[in-house]
Amino acid sequence: MSDPEMKLIYSEEEIHRQVERLAEEINKDYEGQELLIICVLKGGVIFLSDLVRHLTIPVRIDFVQLASYGEGTESQGVVEFRKGFDSPINGKDVLIVEDIVDSGYSMEFLSQKLMSHNPKSLKACVLLDKKARRKVPFEPDYVGISVEDIFLLGYGLDLNEMYRNLPGIYSKD
Ligand code: IMP
Ligand code: MG
Repeated sequence: MSDPEMKLIYSEEEIHRQVERLAEEINKDYEGQELLIICVLKGGVIFLSDLVRHLTIPVRIDFVQLASYGEGTESQGVVEFRKGFDSPINGKDVLIVEDIVDSGYSMEFLSQKLMSHNPKSLKACVLLDKKARRKVPFEPDYVGISVEDIFLLGYGLDLNEMYRNLPGIYSKD
């Protein structure tokens, strides 16, 4: 990344270390079980694709896309499905895979929707956790990296749909 406004916050190597650690934990916790992963589009896809390749348990993968209403980068708490899940949830061990938790509104919405379909278990795995910004209490079960309150880009995270492809995570001045 040669853009002088972009500052590297987490390198590709650091991210991959955390992804492998999370996969090890998930493999251990779900040993002998089958997992249904619900990945949140679009930001979660890069994390998902690295994470699942380190999973040794049997997995199915489904996708949802959420729309949250608010100004710019601020979520106002009104969340709805742009794309819902296709898989049966009832009786399944379900793991949400998401790029980042910020206000918590998105994860609260998705968790409630999934819970209403009676999964056997429901957990959430997020690469990044911006705890200081929480508006509703939401504790992810698996966290890659706890981050400060700065806007991050790359490794799935976007600014106006750009920068998702960067292998590292950056801030932009
Ligand atoms: P929440 O509902 O406020 O927790 O919003 C979570 C969503 O906001 C994430 O899935 C991201 O799509 C987006 N988001 C939150 N923080 C950042 C950031 O630092 N960079 C890029 N997207 C972010
Ligand atoms: Mg997201």
